[in-house]
Amino acid sequence: MCGIVAALAARNVQGILLEGLKRLEYRGYDSAGMAVLNEAGALTRQRAKGKVAALEEKLVHGALTGRIGIAHTRWATHGKPSEVNAHPHLARERLAIVHNGIIENFEPLKRELEGDGVVFESETDTEVVAHLIARAFVETDDLLAAVQTTLDRIDGAYALAVMHADAPREIVGARKGSPLVVGVGIDENFLASDALALLQVTDRFIYLQEGDVVRLSDNRGIEIVAADGSPAERPVHAFEHGDSAASRGEYRHFMLKEIHEQPAVIAATLEGRLSGSHVLESSFGVGARGLFERVAQVHIVACGTSYHAGMVARYWLEKLAGLPTTVEVASEYRYREVVVPADTLFVTLSQSGETADTLAALRYAKSRAKTSGYLGALAICNVPGSSLTRESDLALMTQAGPEIGVASTKAFTTQLVALMLLTLSLRKSRGDERETTLVQALRGLPTVLDSALAMDGPIAELSEAFAEKHHALFLGRGTQFPIALEGALKLKEISYIHAEAYPAGELKHGPLALVDADMPVVAVAPNDELLEKLKSNLQEVRARGGELFVFADEGVALTAADNLRVLHVPAVDEFLAPIVYTIPLQLLSYHVAVLKGTDVDQPRNLAKSVTVE
Ligand code: F6R
Repeated sequence: MCGIVAALAARNVQGILLEGLKRLEYRGYDSAGMAVLNEAGALTRQRAKGKVAALEEKLVHGALTGRIGIAHTRWATHGKPSEVNAHPHLARERLAIVHNGIIENFEPLKRELEGDGVVFESETDTEVVAHLIARAFVETDDLLAAVQTTLDRIDGAYALAVMHADAPREIVGARKGSPLVVGVGIDENFLASDALALLQVTDRFIYLQEGDVVRLSDNRGIEIVAADGSPAERPVHAFEHGDSAASRGEYRHFMLKEIHEQPAVIAATLEGRLSGSHVLESSFGVGARGLFERVAQVHIVACGTSYHAGMVARYWLEKLAGLPTTVEVASEYRYREVVVPADTLFVTLSQSGETADTLAALRYAKSRAKTSGYLGALAICNVPGSSLTRESDLALMTQAGPEIGVASTKAFTTQLVALMLLTLSLRKSRGDERETTLVQALRGLPTVLDSALAMDGPIAELSEAFAEKHHALFLGRGTQFPIALEGALKLKEISYIHAEAYPAGELKHGPLALVDADMPVVAVAPNDELLEKLKSNLQEVRARGGELFVFADEGVALTAADNLRVLHVPAVDEFLAPIVYTIPLQLLSYHVAVLKGTDVDQPRNLAKSVTVE
């Protein structure tokens, strides 16, 4: 949720830290700050409420100079967004800390420190950690040992970076439940919440594991200590996606760039996973074949947009593979007494691979593996090396590349493609005509998506009908119901228009009461077996004076009229239609947000990677 960046370099670090914060701003953007140890051995600090630009402005007038520093962009959990609550937090004026996550037992620890005479400056849980480490440092005179002692007392999820004026060429980092990577440079090293933050200085990274503590220092380089206290070696990975991923290029917003990347990233997600006319199940990892043959049902768990992808997959798995499937949001699943029938495959979906609820759900499922019917856990994820992929038995990486816009777009459609690969791999009748047809359709999908993107102009025009509205209703049936849900989520998250989605057949059971001329109704209507039923539902809307916007195949006999606008979406195999119909709904929400002048890439109150519960 928050973004951390830290640098131990042979040059001034202010520019490196600031650039890192700009690249991490998608993770949180209510305040930002930086602390640098200057050549005189004093900690200097600048913090500002608001976006990184506000901090940058302060640094113009009060630059920080030094070769070691830590910085942070915040998404508030404990304490309102304000300068005083912004990180880094200091203790005894000698220690500075930045932290991402939540310290669950901070209240008793705070009382204990207050009992010792500590006066707190902020409302944050982080400041408690700062004081605990500073106190332990007095006893140990070793920053890494002081951090370890403190972490033993802390409950919760965190990633943190600490420096101390009395250990002037060291930074110590730790991760448990929140991501942290080490950027490996030449005679300089870095820490960050996301490799993207450091691409301007290195393309080599170590992805820390759960419970790791790391020390960067001049004389000992990078030392890692595992959760059990033993020294650990972790591999160095070269970053795979070029630095262009972190820039908007010709596009006005990351979201628009990412919408337009979908044909290419879907082609990349398919690459090497199809052979002739069938899916290579080995793409899911060693042992996938044996495991898949035994699967009798599927449990899918995810959050937000990823959950919507799971909802589409349920229709596919049941219809194409005949497998009973449940789909559930992770925050509910993790606290339920889940009944697991024999031979169930547990599947998590996540762009980031660090979503706290999804990770907790995986751990809950794994803790029950011996006594329940779970065969194994598969993660469909976009971030290599993420906690979710490391902790799952099998993983299929979507190849969406870094997604910077807070509203998920290309991660969703690549998840759908990955889920179709899974569906085909789980079918008992492998290699039949159905698989051949769908593999062909998958190969042609990037071209169909290019045509869907060509709807941009007409959709930009259509968006004017929404910009002044306060509510909108989205309707779909079958696999298009989750697409309607996703369309409504996109609209509300970036344009702040209240939007709801219903399976169209539910309309007359309540929501129809909302329909009037001020409530635009969007319907997704591909030419599938439910089309005639959907058309009747649409008549119900028209009869109540509702304004209807229908996305439909060319072949659908619907004629535009006064309160009915029809936009044609390129035709595709009916099973892949949810992927294609997602595009115009993404474009619609984007254009409405642009008209409303909202912050498209960083909508209010949200953050990209939800690493807190
Ligand atoms: C919405 C959105 C969120 C995420 C959700 C799960 O546009 O991005 O709803 O889908 O927070 O995140 P991941 O997929 O990273 O687990």
